[in-house]
Amino acid sequence: QQPMRVAMVGLGTVGSGVIKILFEQAERITRRAGRPIVVESVVVRDPTKVRSVNLADDLIDTAIDVIEHPDVDVVCELIGGTTTAGDIVRQALQAGKHVVTANKALLCEQGDELFQLARELKRAIGFEAAVAGGVPIIEAVSQSLSANQITSLEGILNGTSNFILTEMLDRNVSYEDAVAKAQKKGYAEADPAMDVDGTDAAQKLTLLAQLAFGTKADLKQFPRQGIDKLDLADLKYADTLGYRIKLLAVARLADGSLELHTQPTLIRKYQPMADVDDAYNMIELEGDAVGKTWFSGMGAGQMPTASAVVSDLIDLAVGRAQKTFPLLDLWQSQKPLPILPAD
Ligand code: NAP
Ligand code: HSE
Repeated sequence: QQPMRVAMVGLGTVGSGVIKILFEQAERITRRAGRPIVVESVVVRDPTKVRSVNLADDLIDTAIDVIEHPDVDVVCELIGGTTTAGDIVRQALQAGKHVVTANKALLCEQGDELFQLARELKRAIGFEAAVAGGVPIIEAVSQSLSANQITSLEGILNGTSNFILTEMLDRNVSYEDAVAKAQKKGYAEADPAMDVDGTDAAQKLTLLAQLAFGTKADLKQFPRQGIDKLDLADLKYADTLGYRIKLLAVARLADGSLELHTQPTLIRKYQPMADVDDAYNMIELEGDAVGKTWFSGMGAGQMPTASAVVSDLIDLAVGRAQKTFPLLDLWQSQKPLPILPAD
């Protein structure tokens, strides 16, 4: 069987996890993909860095242009940020490569343009890892629940914030130490302010809302709060009243409009969402036929996120790559809903 050849850009938390799965589970992945998935090259910023994975020196590069090599079928963008990452995705598509990315910031900012480009060039962009880490929520919203009009979705979409809240309340760790721990565990963004001020959750919310409601919201169009203004006293007071505070991201239909927000929210103890701890995420989706459904699992971290990236690679290898095109048609065929303005 002809292998599928992958150029990876980024070998940090997620990229190293992808390498681990592809190398350590090569036989199983080959069976599932129907052909070997081979890493052709790995682009990094600093080739002298000590890595958690052992790679042959000739596999590592610093020149982005290796993604254009004729042998490369798929480019994995795993560097984060939006400027260079956007250029890489465009360059890869224009060179005829499919793309897999975990980059919600990029898709939130430039997704419409990139998906349009992908369709024109008959290439796919896999982005399961961009929302809720290892939880297959993109597949669920865009494929598995497609018989439904989604009426609401709400959930914990930022693992770092949830980890910090858990550390502070349950383990008596200070806010600053909890942030540092989240960084050490590889949960946090390069700039953890994106996690704690609600930006990361809001970016993921706009992607899910676009899939569920066909409406693209700009981050400036809806209220966004994070956990950075919460004190331990707030968490403890809520606890004594029988509540947990969670950073919830919410999108729901309200009288023909779309209401969106991210904010710390009181949730009665022992409700499923209240019991989500550490870097776990949970999403409650309600559809007109299915009713309520819940999805949960690790929303950040090396192996859960790599799980989603590798699943996208397997999809591409078996030819399910076209699944992003119906998505684009879906967005373009639906009349955008008005977004309830931020107060
Ligand atoms: P990371 O640990 O900071 O790794 C970033 C990697 O990109 C590093 O290997 C770095 O190279 C490389 N890089 C950065 N700029 C580059 C450039 N200009 N040229 C070549 N290589 C460059 O980041 P991460 O946590 O793996 O996150 C990667 C992406 O996944 C982000 O979009 C993030 O939002 C997303 N994501 C992360 C998680 C998570 O739990 N961490 C979960 C879901 C999604 P060096 O190693 O040489 O510095
Ligand atoms: N920083 C993100 C989080 C990574 O903590 O949820 C997963 O997208």
